Amino acid sequence: MDPARLLLLLLAVAAIGATADVDRQVFMKVTCSAPGNYTDSSRFGKNVAELLSALSTPPPATVGNYRWFRSHTVGAAPDQVSGLAVCYANADADLCLDCINSANSTWFSDLCDDSRNVSFLSSVGCAMRYADAPFFGSADSGDGARLILRSDFRATFASAAAMRKARRGLLSQLAERAGGDALRFATGSQGNKDADIGGAWQVMYGMAECTRDLPLSECSSCLIDLLAVMYEDVGVTNSTSASVMGVSCYLMYQMEPINFIAGMAAVPPAAPPAEPPTGSAAASPAAPPVGPKTTVVIAAMAAAAVTLFSVGA
Ligand SMILES: *[C@@H]1O[C@H](CO)[C@@H](O)[C@H](O)[C@H]1NC(C)=O
Ligand SMILES: *[C@@H]1O[C@H](CO)[C@@H](O)[C@H](O)[C@H]1NC(C)=O
Ligand SMILES: *[C@@H]1O[C@H](CO)[C@@H](O)[C@H](O)[C@H]1NC(C)=O
Ligand SMILES: *[C@@H]1O[C@H](CO)[C@@H](O)[C@H](O)[C@H]1NC(C)=O
Repeated sequence: MDPARLLLLLLAVAAIGATADVDRQVFMKVTCSAPGNYTDSSRFGKNVAELLSALSTPPPATVGNYRWFRSHTVGAAPDQVSGLAVCYANADADLCLDCINSANSTWFSDLCDDSRNVSFLSSVGCAMRYADAPFFGSADSGDGARLILRSDFRATFASAAAMRKARRGLLSQLAERAGGDALRFATGSQGNKDADIGGAWQVMYGMAECTRDLPLSECSSCLIDLLAVMYEDVGVTNSTSASVMGVSCYLMYQMEPINFIAGMAAVPPAAPPAEPPTGSAAASPAAPPVGPKTTVVIAAMAAAAVTLFSVGA
């Protein structure tokens, strides 16, 4: 554990972010396999460099939306390295591409002490993963590789229970749908009419997404794990706006419409459920006014700092 390096890491990316949004703090999380397992000049080290360069400068789109999801493999065993990079759908496009483009092999080998497997997450919406054996199709289920973010409670649900009910209805449906979409992406909204507070109509918006290498079942189970985090983590269990970001999937909700990066809003908002309140969530004229942008805070900063450079299997 080296606090100085953690600080440097935060500064390095905060500086990249400064051009687009000075207010936003950037949090990162890295999971490294085992230190000291290659050198930059070894064949594996060169393959990592080639991989990261390929991920940051992709060929012209051959697959739809290649811009936001990239995967690549370099070399042959035992020096083979496979990797992917994703910008999650509500990322700031410039910040996220900066994140992918600036994550070169020197940076990662310093960060992870020359570990052969690396999982990396940034709160700008960028996730990267590489390993010395093919992993495409299976999710990274490491608990360590998650960022839990929430914004301050400010919407007016009559009770935390009402909020949790709306959230459960919305997110469990999105978690099931995302895996069946070609982009592994689902978005929707859920209306809530709270009788206890004079019948005010509120809309909760959510999205669920997996990396595009995952098959349906793996995507769903990845998202269901994140849903469980939302239900259990004290930092977000009663929050009206939160996100749980993993290396393989991502789940979030908030009380205002979500801004998506280009090409990722194609899926129309979910129709409101049949039984609860009337009216269309998507077109609701009574959606709450959008308040000032809240500062995203990390729910478990201490835990993040502790796990940032931790080394595990
Ligand atoms: C990583 O290094 C350890 C000891 O330094 C070694 O036992 C292990 O086999 C190495 N793993 C790989 C994949 O090279
Ligand atoms: C690697 O990335 C770091 C941080 O983004 C940057 O300072 C450095 O110049 C880069 N090195 C190369 C060789 O691109
Ligand atoms: C690295 O990742 C690969 C692919 O997931 C896995 O097979 C291997 O066991 C991992 N190595 C370590 C040291 O964690
Ligand atoms: C969440 O709200 C419930 C009331 O519905 C309360 O009992 C519980 O303590 C709250 N949990 C947290 C972590 O604030």
